[in-house]
Amino acid sequence: MKRDIELINAHLDKYLELRYPNNIWEAMRYSVLAKGKRLRPLIALESARACGGDINNVLPAACAIEMLHCQSLIHDDLPCMDNDDYRRGQLTNHKVYGEAIAVLAGDALLSLAPRVIIKHTPDSVDKKILLSVLDEFFKAAGAMGIVGGQVVDIQSENREINIETFNYILNHKTGELFKFAARAGALLAGATGEKPDALASYGSKIGYAFQIADDILDVTGTIDEIGKTPGKDSKLNKNTYVSFHGIEKSETDLINICESAKKILMRNKIKSGLLYDIADNIVMKAVK
Ligand code: IPE
Ligand code: IPE
Ligand code: MG
Ligand code: MG
Ligand code: MG
Repeated sequence: MKRDIELINAHLDKYLELRYPNNIWEAMRYSVLAKGKRLRPLIALESARACGGDINNVLPAACAIEMLHCQSLIHDDLPCMDNDDYRRGQLTNHKVYGEAIAVLAGDALLSLAPRVIIKHTPDSVDKKILLSVLDEFFKAAGAMGIVGGQVVDIQSENREINIETFNYILNHKTGELFKFAARAGALLAGATGEKPDALASYGSKIGYAFQIADDILDVTGTIDEIGKTPGKDSKLNKNTYVSFHGIEKSETDLINICESAKKILMRNKIKSGLLYDIADNIVMKAVK
């Protein structure tokens, strides 16, 4: 895992080489190269490995996934969204560079990410596969993915919503990108048959579970543990797993969903210690 993180960081550093106008590249580097867990790109690489693929075929897409994730974080932290001052243990992007540059840094990351896939994915990867990975990238990023989830999340502040709406928020603002990460790894590894869909369901469950853990940690975590200000969700009157289901059910559901994610791997004979460990780690970090 450590080696993969180093590989991802080195490639992100390379793709974000400083150029004119310097301040926008600095703002992009500031958020992307900060201490993130790199969970989504790790899942992409490991899915490829579990399908017997060459991870060099997936590295550009894995970095693009991290760039898209960072874009969603920079915008999520803006005063017009969650209005957060800390992220990844440092001041948020707009606190350092101002709101205009933070919006533009997000825009620039979102535009750079698919170009990284197009320009840096090895020629050996089938162009049809590349095109479908790009299509799914845009789906995960847009109104059928993160954007859709964020819209309903923001609109649901200070309101009671039903379970379908609540689940839509989790599956879209967080689930879709994890799902894409796992599926893209399989596709770029050249996997056929049931593996890409099985890994997609694993990713989808892990993403949903990850948001439960994030919602629990907003209540129980410290700023040092989570690198962001705790207690923000209740301040904004957000619908979170904890506010919706209570802390006890949040913990048991988190455990059960991560177990069911592992069962998908078992049923489909996907051999990867790391994908199991990721499921266990999400639980361990949030359930003390
Ligand atoms: C934060 O994601 C946003 C959520 C979906 C909860 P992470 O907790 O993965 O953030 P980093 O990448 O480690 O900073
Ligand atoms: C974030 O949900 C989902 C994104 C797409 C950024 P949150 O708003 O709960 O994430 P944090 O807690 O700010 O990281
Ligand atoms: Mg938010
Ligand atoms: Mg937020
Ligand atoms: Mg949160």
